[in-house]
Amino acid sequence: MAVAARARHFVSIADLDRGGLAHLLERSSALKAARPRREPLLAGRTLAQIFEKPSLRTRLSFDVGMTELGGHCVYLSPQEVGLGRRESVADVARVVSRMVDAVVLRTNAHETIEEFARFASIPVINGLSDLSHPCQGLADILTISEKKGPDLRDVTVAYVGDGNNVLNSLMLAVVLRSARMRVATPAGFEPTPRYRELAERKAREANGSIVFGNDPIAAVRDADVVYTDVWTSMGQEQEYERRRRAFMGYQVNAALLRHAKPDAIVMHDLPAHRGEEITDEVLDGPQSVVFDQAENRLHTQKAILCWLLRGES
Ligand code: CP
Ligand code: NVA
Repeated sequence: MAVAARARHFVSIADLDRGGLAHLLERSSALKAARPRREPLLAGRTLAQIFEKPSLRTRLSFDVGMTELGGHCVYLSPQEVGLGRRESVADVARVVSRMVDAVVLRTNAHETIEEFARFASIPVINGLSDLSHPCQGLADILTISEKKGPDLRDVTVAYVGDGNNVLNSLMLAVVLRSARMRVATPAGFEPTPRYRELAERKAREANGSIVFGNDPIAAVRDADVVYTDVWTSMGQEQEYERRRRAFMGYQVNAALLRHAKPDAIVMHDLPAHRGEEITDEVLDGPQSVVFDQAENRLHTQKAILCWLLRGES
Protein backbone atom coordinates (compact mmCIF):
# COMPACT_ATOMS: atom_id res chain seq x y z
CA MET A 1 0.00 0.00 0.00
CA ALA A 2 1.34 3.43 -0.93
CA VAL A 3 2.07 5.67 2.04
CA ALA A 4 0.75 9.22 1.62
CA ALA A 5 3.33 12.01 1.94
CA ARG A 6 3.11 13.77 5.30
CA ALA A 7 1.49 17.18 5.16
CA ARG A 8 3.62 20.23 5.91
CA HIS A 9 2.46 22.09 9.04
CA PHE A 10 3.09 25.54 10.55
CA VAL A 11 2.93 24.93 14.28
CA SER A 12 5.98 26.91 15.40
CA ILE A 13 8.50 29.38 13.99
CA ALA A 14 10.95 26.59 14.86
CA ASP A 15 9.42 24.67 11.90
CA LEU A 16 11.23 27.17 9.64
CA ASP A 17 14.88 27.36 8.78
CA ARG A 18 16.47 30.63 7.70
CA GLY A 19 15.67 29.99 4.03
CA GLY A 20 12.04 29.13 4.79
CA LEU A 21 11.58 32.29 6.81
CA ALA A 22 13.23 34.40 4.10
CA HIS A 23 10.92 32.86 1.51
CA LEU A 24 7.79 33.63 3.54
CA LEU A 25 8.90 37.23 4.06
CA GLU A 26 9.59 37.75 0.35
CA ARG A 27 6.29 36.13 -0.60
CA SER A 28 4.38 38.26 1.92
CA SER A 29 5.92 41.44 0.52
CA ALA A 30 5.15 40.39 -3.07
CA LEU A 31 1.52 39.59 -2.22
CA LYS A 32 1.24 42.90 -0.38
CA ALA A 33 2.69 44.85 -3.32
CA ALA A 34 0.34 43.10 -5.77
CA ARG A 35 -2.78 44.24 -3.91
CA PRO A 36 -5.50 44.99 -4.88
CA ARG A 37 -4.83 42.72 -7.89
CA ARG A 38 -5.98 39.22 -6.97
CA GLU A 39 -4.62 36.03 -8.43
CA PRO A 40 -6.83 33.01 -7.73
CA LEU A 41 -3.89 30.94 -6.53
CA LEU A 42 -6.09 28.88 -4.20
CA ALA A 43 -9.25 28.68 -6.30
CA GLY A 44 -11.58 25.96 -5.08
CA ARG A 45 -9.59 25.33 -1.89
CA THR A 46 -11.18 25.42 1.57
CA LEU A 47 -9.64 26.41 4.91
CA ALA A 48 -11.31 25.49 8.23
CA GLN A 49 -10.72 27.63 11.32
CA ILE A 50 -11.35 25.86 14.63
CA PHE A 51 -11.04 28.29 17.54
CA GLU A 52 -11.26 27.67 21.29
CA LYS A 53 -10.64 31.37 22.08
CA PRO A 54 -11.84 34.70 20.64
CA SER A 55 -10.02 36.43 17.78
CA LEU A 56 -10.27 39.47 15.54
CA ARG A 57 -7.02 39.67 13.54
CA THR A 58 -6.24 35.98 13.11
CA ARG A 59 -9.69 34.92 12.07
CA LEU A 60 -10.32 37.94 9.83
CA SER A 61 -6.94 37.83 8.10
CA PHE A 62 -7.26 34.14 7.23
CA ASP A 63 -10.83 34.65 6.05
CA VAL A 64 -10.02 37.68 3.89
CA GLY A 65 -6.72 36.19 2.74
CA MET A 66 -8.38 32.99 1.58
CA THR A 67 -11.10 34.96 -0.24
CA GLU A 68 -8.50 37.16 -1.97
CA LEU A 69 -6.70 34.02 -3.14
CA GLY A 70 -9.91 32.65 -4.64
CA GLY A 71 -10.56 30.10 -1.90
CA HIS A 72 -13.10 29.72 0.85
CA CYS A 73 -13.04 29.73 4.67
CA VAL A 74 -15.24 27.95 7.24
CA TYR A 75 -15.19 29.08 10.89
CA LEU A 76 -16.06 26.63 13.66
CA SER A 77 -16.57 28.06 17.14
CA PRO A 78 -15.82 26.26 20.43
CA GLN A 79 -19.54 25.58 20.93
CA GLU A 80 -19.71 23.65 17.66
CA VAL A 81 -16.62 21.44 17.79
CA GLY A 82 -15.75 20.82 21.44
CA LEU A 83 -12.22 19.60 20.64
CA GLY A 84 -11.44 16.69 22.94
CA ARG A 85 -14.77 17.06 24.79
CA ARG A 86 -17.54 16.36 22.31
CA GLU A 87 -15.18 14.33 20.18
CA SER A 88 -11.55 13.24 20.42
CA VAL A 89 -8.93 15.51 18.87
CA ALA A 90 -7.80 12.61 16.67
CA ASP A 91 -11.29 12.00 15.28
CA VAL A 92 -11.86 15.70 14.57
CA ALA A 93 -8.51 15.79 12.74
CA ARG A 94 -9.43 12.75 10.65
CA VAL A 95 -12.87 14.12 9.69
CA VAL A 96 -11.64 17.64 8.92
CA SER A 97 -8.87 16.14 6.75
CA ARG A 98 -11.50 14.44 4.57
CA MET A 99 -13.35 17.67 3.82
CA VAL A 100 -11.02 20.67 3.68
CA ASP A 101 -7.53 21.48 2.39
CA ALA A 102 -6.00 23.05 5.52
CA VAL A 103 -6.96 24.00 9.06
CA VAL A 104 -6.12 26.84 11.46
CA LEU A 105 -6.37 25.94 15.15
CA ARG A 106 -6.50 28.36 18.10
CA THR A 107 -6.34 26.29 21.26
CA ASN A 108 -5.84 26.59 24.99
CA ALA A 109 -3.17 23.89 25.11
CA HIS A 110 -0.35 23.70 22.59
CA GLU A 111 -0.46 19.90 22.89
CA THR A 112 -3.90 19.94 21.25
CA ILE A 113 -2.40 21.40 18.07
CA GLU A 114 0.48 18.92 18.14
CA GLU A 115 -1.96 16.03 18.63
CA PHE A 116 -4.20 17.32 15.84
CA ALA A 117 -1.19 17.56 13.50
CA ARG A 118 -0.26 13.94 14.24
CA PHE A 119 -3.65 12.72 13.02
CA ALA A 120 -4.30 15.23 10.21
CA SER A 121 -3.39 14.50 6.61
CA ILE A 122 -3.75 18.19 5.68
CA PRO A 123 -1.60 21.19 6.72
CA VAL A 124 -2.25 22.41 10.27
CA ILE A 125 -1.58 26.06 11.13
CA ASN A 126 -1.16 27.26 14.72
CA GLY A 127 -3.43 30.30 15.07
CA LEU A 128 -2.27 30.77 18.71
CA SER A 129 -1.76 28.40 21.61
CA ASP A 130 -0.66 28.97 25.18
CA LEU A 131 2.94 28.40 24.02
CA SER A 132 3.29 30.11 20.67
CA HIS A 133 1.80 32.39 18.04
CA PRO A 134 3.88 31.80 14.92
CA CYS A 135 1.57 33.64 12.50
CA GLN A 136 1.99 36.73 14.70
CA GLY A 137 5.76 36.23 14.81
CA LEU A 138 5.90 36.19 11.03
CA ALA A 139 3.87 39.42 10.69
CA ASP A 140 6.07 40.98 13.38
CA ILE A 141 9.32 40.23 11.61
CA LEU A 142 7.85 41.44 8.30
CA THR A 143 6.91 44.73 9.98
CA ILE A 144 10.36 45.11 11.54
CA SER A 145 11.97 44.43 8.14
CA GLU A 146 9.75 47.01 6.44
CA LYS A 147 10.57 49.68 9.01
CA LYS A 148 14.25 48.92 9.66
CA GLY A 149 15.40 47.39 6.37
CA PRO A 150 15.74 43.79 5.20
CA ASP A 151 19.17 43.31 6.82
CA LEU A 152 18.48 43.17 10.56
CA ARG A 153 22.00 42.31 11.75
CA ASP A 154 22.37 45.72 13.40
CA VAL A 155 18.86 45.88 14.80
CA THR A 156 18.01 45.43 18.48
CA VAL A 157 14.51 44.32 19.44
CA ALA A 158 13.53 44.85 23.09
CA TYR A 159 10.56 42.97 24.55
CA VAL A 160 9.20 44.15 27.89
CA GLY A 161 6.48 42.19 29.67
CA ASP A 162 5.22 38.64 29.98
CA GLY A 163 7.30 35.66 28.79
CA ASN A 164 4.34 34.35 26.81
CA ASN A 165 3.25 32.83 23.49
CA VAL A 166 3.85 36.05 21.53
CA LEU A 167 7.37 36.46 22.89
CA ASN A 168 8.20 32.81 22.18
CA SER A 169 7.46 33.25 18.47
CA LEU A 170 8.87 36.78 18.20
CA MET A 171 12.25 35.88 19.68
CA LEU A 172 12.69 32.88 17.38
CA ALA A 173 11.90 35.00 14.32
CA VAL A 174 14.22 37.82 15.45
CA VAL A 175 17.26 35.63 16.07
CA LEU A 176 16.65 33.63 12.86
CA ARG A 177 17.03 36.95 11.00
CA SER A 178 20.37 37.46 12.82
CA ALA A 179 19.11 40.41 14.86
CA ARG A 180 19.68 41.13 18.56
CA MET A 181 16.90 40.31 21.01
CA ARG A 182 16.67 41.63 24.58
CA VAL A 183 13.96 40.40 26.91
CA ALA A 184 12.86 41.93 30.22
CA THR A 185 10.25 40.06 32.25
CA PRO A 186 9.49 40.14 35.97
CA ALA A 187 11.12 37.27 37.89
CA GLY A 188 8.87 34.24 37.63
CA PHE A 189 7.41 35.29 34.25
CA GLU A 190 10.32 34.32 32.00
CA PRO A 191 9.69 32.21 28.90
CA THR A 192 9.80 28.47 29.52
CA PRO A 193 13.27 26.89 29.59
CA ARG A 194 12.41 24.95 26.41
CA TYR A 195 11.79 28.14 24.43
CA ARG A 196 14.74 29.96 25.98
CA GLU A 197 17.07 27.15 24.99
CA LEU A 198 15.55 26.96 21.52
CA ALA A 199 16.00 30.70 20.99
CA GLU A 200 19.59 30.58 22.27
CA ARG A 201 20.39 27.70 19.91
CA LYS A 202 18.77 29.42 16.90
CA ALA A 203 20.64 32.62 17.77
CA ARG A 204 23.97 30.75 17.74
CA GLU A 205 23.11 29.10 14.40
CA ALA A 206 22.03 32.36 12.75
CA ASN A 207 24.59 34.73 14.33
CA GLY A 208 21.83 36.53 16.16
CA SER A 209 21.87 37.11 19.91
CA ILE A 210 19.44 36.95 22.80
CA VAL A 211 19.68 38.08 26.42
CA PHE A 212 17.12 37.54 29.17
CA GLY A 213 16.82 39.80 32.19
CA ASN A 214 14.46 41.59 34.55
CA ASP A 215 15.37 45.23 33.89
CA PRO A 216 13.13 47.05 31.37
CA ILE A 217 15.48 50.03 31.06
CA ALA A 218 18.49 47.82 30.32
CA ALA A 219 16.46 45.97 27.67
CA VAL A 220 15.18 49.13 25.99
CA ARG A 221 18.42 51.15 26.09
CA ASP A 222 19.28 52.22 22.49
CA ALA A 223 16.87 49.64 21.07
CA ASP A 224 15.43 50.01 17.55
CA VAL A 225 12.19 48.22 18.38
CA VAL A 226 10.22 48.20 21.64
CA TYR A 227 7.61 45.44 21.83
CA THR A 228 5.09 44.54 24.50
CA ASP A 229 2.05 42.31 24.92
CA VAL A 230 -0.70 41.93 27.52
CA TRP A 231 0.21 40.93 31.07
CA THR A 232 -2.80 38.61 31.31
CA SER A 233 -3.35 36.40 28.28
CA MET A 234 -6.59 34.72 27.28
CA GLY A 235 -7.26 31.88 29.73
CA GLN A 236 -5.28 33.51 32.60
CA GLU A 237 -8.06 35.84 33.73
CA GLN A 238 -8.13 34.35 37.25
CA GLU A 239 -4.50 35.54 37.69
CA TYR A 240 -5.34 39.12 36.69
CA GLU A 241 -4.71 40.84 40.06
CA ARG A 242 -1.54 38.91 40.85
CA ARG A 243 -0.17 39.69 37.39
CA ARG A 244 -1.08 43.37 37.57
CA ARG A 245 0.95 43.68 40.75
CA ALA A 246 3.88 41.65 39.40
CA PHE A 247 4.12 43.69 36.19
CA MET A 248 4.09 47.17 37.75
CA GLY A 249 7.25 48.80 36.43
CA TYR A 250 7.04 46.92 33.11
CA GLN A 251 4.70 49.38 31.38
CA VAL A 252 5.81 50.74 28.01
CA ASN A 253 5.26 54.46 28.59
CA ALA A 254 6.89 57.68 27.42
CA ALA A 255 9.50 57.57 30.22
CA LEU A 256 10.64 54.06 29.27
CA LEU A 257 10.58 54.81 25.56
CA ARG A 258 13.01 57.71 26.06
CA HIS A 259 15.74 55.12 26.72
CA ALA A 260 15.33 53.65 23.21
CA LYS A 261 16.76 55.19 20.03
CA PRO A 262 14.86 58.34 19.01
CA ASP A 263 13.63 56.57 15.85
CA ALA A 264 12.65 53.36 17.66
CA ILE A 265 9.34 51.84 16.65
CA VAL A 266 6.76 50.56 19.13
CA MET A 267 5.00 47.27 18.50
CA HIS A 268 2.12 45.36 20.09
CA ASP A 269 0.31 42.35 18.62
CA LEU A 270 -3.10 43.62 19.89
CA PRO A 271 -5.57 43.55 21.47
CA ALA A 272 -3.93 45.93 23.97
CA HIS A 273 -4.97 46.47 27.56
CA ARG A 274 -4.49 50.23 27.40
CA GLY A 275 -3.18 51.71 30.63
CA GLU A 276 -1.65 48.38 31.70
CA GLU A 277 1.25 47.14 29.55
CA ILE A 278 1.19 50.27 27.36
CA THR A 279 -0.11 53.82 27.67
CA ASP A 280 -2.48 55.49 25.21
CA GLU A 281 0.18 58.12 24.62
CA VAL A 282 2.67 55.54 23.32
CA LEU A 283 0.21 53.26 21.55
CA ASP A 284 -1.31 56.21 19.66
CA GLY A 285 1.99 58.10 19.38
CA PRO A 286 4.19 58.75 16.33
CA GLN A 287 6.54 55.82 17.02
CA SER A 288 3.75 53.24 17.13
CA VAL A 289 3.43 50.94 14.10
CA VAL A 290 0.77 48.67 15.60
CA PHE A 291 -1.79 49.06 12.82
CA ASP A 292 0.77 48.41 10.07
CA GLN A 293 1.69 45.36 12.12
CA ALA A 294 -1.96 44.28 12.33
CA GLU A 295 -2.44 44.76 8.57
CA ASN A 296 0.62 42.63 7.90
CA ARG A 297 -1.21 39.68 9.41
CA LEU A 298 -3.22 39.55 6.17
CA HIS A 299 -0.19 39.51 3.87
CA THR A 300 1.72 36.94 5.89
CA GLN A 301 -1.31 34.63 6.21
CA LYS A 302 -1.58 34.62 2.41
CA ALA A 303 2.09 33.68 2.12
CA ILE A 304 1.63 30.88 4.68
CA LEU A 305 -1.38 29.54 2.77
CA CYS A 306 0.45 29.57 -0.57
CA TRP A 307 3.48 27.88 1.03
CA LEU A 308 1.41 25.11 2.59
CA LEU A 309 -1.23 24.59 -0.08
CA ARG A 310 0.79 25.19 -3.25
CA GLY A 311 4.04 23.72 -2.00
CA GLU A 312 5.83 27.00 -2.69
CA SER A 313 9.33 27.26 -1.29
N1 CP B 1 -2.90 39.48 17.51
C1 CP B 1 -3.87 38.56 17.38
O1 CP B 1 -3.64 37.37 17.18
O2 CP B 1 -5.12 39.08 17.48
P1 CP B 1 -6.46 38.22 17.63
O3 CP B 1 -6.41 37.56 18.97
O4 CP B 1 -7.55 39.25 17.53
O5 CP B 1 -6.52 37.22 16.51
N1 NVA C 1 -0.72 36.80 24.66
C1 NVA C 1 -2.02 37.09 24.13
C2 NVA C 1 -1.95 37.26 22.65
C3 NVA C 1 -3.26 37.61 21.99
C4 NVA C 1 -3.15 37.75 20.51
C5 NVA C 1 -2.97 35.97 24.51
O1 NVA C 1 -2.60 34.80 24.42
O2 NVA C 1 -4.10 36.27 24.92
